[in-house]
Amino acid sequence: MVTELNYQEHIFPGTREQLVAKLEQALKPHRFRHVLRVEQTAIQLATANQVDVEKASIAGLVHDYAKQRPDEDFIAAIQRYHLDPMLLDYGNAIWHGVVGAELIKHELQIFDEDVLNAVRHHTTGAVYMSPLEQVIYMADYIEPKRDFPGVDEARKVTAADLAKGVAFQAKQTLQYLVTNGKPVYPKSIDTYNAWISRWL
Ligand SMILES: [Fe+2]
Ligand SMILES: [Fe+2]
Repeated sequence: MVTELNYQEHIFPGTREQLVAKLEQALKPHRFRHVLRVEQTAIQLATANQVDVEKASIAGLVHDYAKQRPDEDFIAAIQRYHLDPMLLDYGNAIWHGVVGAELIKHELQIFDEDVLNAVRHHTTGAVYMSPLEQVIYMADYIEPKRDFPGVDEARKVTAADLAKGVAFQAKQTLQYLVTNGKPVYPKSIDTYNAWISRWL
């Protein structure tokens, strides 16, 4: 069942339909469909965990807003908004969250810090994550079309305990990066260390 909310909290200056239209413009069809699924999963997790459902809808929709922007846009934004220059050493996978949040602020006029942090942290996680941040981090990982070894376990763990889901994903992601010889963003290691005690 698809939930279509009437936005009432003035977090985004417009209706859900208007926000959905912005995403459809910003993204290729396959990515657009992914954000719709993440939104629906986020609404379900929010409902189950007493998290603000309107924020879950907005954050779910915008979490990948910047995913298909060219590198130059991110590099320009890192300089314009005086973000950590260390970010320049990374790429789209990190930028679309951390830098994407700045683009969302300035282009979509969404200033709610909980929503923006949910976008910032949706790829790497963070040591401290609000319930909304946890909802988006997990919704992106377990939305219905996700298909990887362990996804059913991830869904089960998350349904039983949201924070344990976070720990599960942090562990799986770190394992995947190391196994495949990919660089690990320091924050991902911090996330793992902070959350793993919840899983054990
Ligand atoms: Fe993403
Ligand atoms: Fe995503």
